[in-house]
Amino acid sequence: MQKLIIRGGEKVGGEISVQGAKNSALPLLAGCLLAKGESVLYNCPELSDVFAACRILNCLGCKCKFRDNTVSVDSDVLNSSEVPDGLMREMRSSIVFLGAVLGRMGKCRLSFPGGCELGPRPIDMHLSALRQMGVRITEEHGALDCSCPKGLKGAKINLSFPSVGATENIMLAAALAEGETVIYNAAREPEICDLAGYLNSCGARIKGAGSSTVSIEGVSELHGCEYTVMPDRIAAATLMAAAAATGGELSLLNVRCDDVQSVIPVFEQMGCGVFCCRDRIYISCTKKLRAVKTIRTMPYPGFPTDAQALVMAALTKAEGTSVIVENIFENRYRHVDELVRMGADIKTEGKVAVIRGVKELYGALVRASDLRGGAALAVAALGANGETVLENVKFIDRGYESLEKQLCSIGANVKRIL
Ligand code: UD1
Repeated sequence: MQKLIIRGGEKVGGEISVQGAKNSALPLLAGCLLAKGESVLYNCPELSDVFAACRILNCLGCKCKFRDNTVSVDSDVLNSSEVPDGLMREMRSSIVFLGAVLGRMGKCRLSFPGGCELGPRPIDMHLSALRQMGVRITEEHGALDCSCPKGLKGAKINLSFPSVGATENIMLAAALAEGETVIYNAAREPEICDLAGYLNSCGARIKGAGSSTVSIEGVSELHGCEYTVMPDRIAAATLMAAAAATGGELSLLNVRCDDVQSVIPVFEQMGCGVFCCRDRIYISCTKKLRAVKTIRTMPYPGFPTDAQALVMAALTKAEGTSVIVENIFENRYRHVDELVRMGADIKTEGKVAVIRGVKELYGALVRASDLRGGAALAVAALGANGETVLENVKFIDRGYESLEKQLCSIGANVKRIL
C-alpha cells in the first residue's frame, strides 16, 4: 500500500499549471467510441481512472495510445459491446460508456458500476432515460443487458435531478439516435459543455449545453477530431486550499476563472486575496484565516461537492465556526474522522458539518477513503505541525497527476513511499 509522507509547516508558493480535468476526460474518452476514425485528446491527465477508461476502450476494440498527456483513440473497428466486470468495478463513471456503446453498437452488456465510496450512487436516471430512448434493459445477477431492437430514438427526457453522469450518458446515446432528444433539468457543469464541444467538433448537433435544456439532433455518423480537455476546476480548488492551509501564495496557470466562480468567494471570506484573469488565478493567504458563512454544496453553478472536503481542510484552522451542508452525496464526510485525528474540531450530523477552528493541527497516521477526502487530508497535513503518514494513496491517484510532485514543485515537503 503506497503512502504519502507529508512534513507540514512549509508555505506553498510560486507558479503551477493545473492539470486537465478528470471529470471531462472520462466522458470525452467514452465519446471517442462514437466517432469513427481517430480522435486525439490533448491535456488529458495521466490518472488511474483515465487509464481504466483506456482499458475499457481497448477491450471494445479501439486502439488507444497515451503519451505526454495526449491520448489518441482509433475507434474505426469495434469488436465487442461488453465492458468487463473488473473494469466496471474500478470506477463508477464507467457507466458513461453505456450511452456511447449503445450509440455505436446498438447493444451493450455491463455490470453495475463500482467506486461507490460516497454512499449509494444509483443509476436509475441513466436507465430510465435510455429506456425512453428505446433501449430494452434486463438486469440479472448484477449485469445489465441492453439492446435497442428498433434503434435509438430521440426522446424528451425530464431529469428529476440534474445528474452530471445521466446528462452525459443521454448526450452520448442521443448523438447518433434517430431524431431529436431534449434533456430538461440537465446538469450545467462545465464538463457538460466540454463534452458537447468535443461531440460537436466530431459532427454532432448539440445545443444548449451549460443551460438546463440541452437538445441533441441525432446525426448518422460522427468523425474523429482533435480536442483539448478543459482544465480541472477541482484540482485548482485543491491548490487554492493548499495555499490557504499553509498561509502561502500561488499563481495557478491553465485554469478558467469562470469554472471556479463559486469557490473563490469562500476563500475571500477566509481572508485570502484572490485575483483572476482569464486563465490565471493568483491567491494570497498570508492573513490569519477566518470562518466563513454556511457553505451548501449544490449542482453547478453552486458550490461543488467535490471541493467540500478540500475547503473543510483549510477551515479546520480558521478562527471561528464554519458550517457545511452537503446536499449532493449522502456519505461524503468520511474524511472528518481522519481530520479529527489531526486535532481538528468537527462534528457532523446527517448532511451538516460544524467546524470549530483550532490553533494548530498536528501530523498523524491517516487514511484516505475516497478521492477528494484523501486530497483534503493531504491539504490539512501541509498546514499541520510535524509529519503525517497518509495511507491509501490509490484513491488520490484516481484524480491527481502525482499529487506529491505537484505539491513539491510549489515548496511542500511530500514524498511517496511504496
Ligand atoms: C459527477 C462527478 C463527481 C461529482 C458529481 C456531482 C464525474 C466522473 N464525477 O458524478 O466527481 O461529485 O458529478 O457533481 O464526472 N443520482 C441518482 N440516480 C442517478 C444518478 C445520480 O440518484 O441515476 C444521484 C447520486 O446518487 C447523487 C446525485 O444524484 O446523490 C448527483 O449525482 P451525479 O450528478 O449523477 O454525479 P456523478 O455523475 O456520479
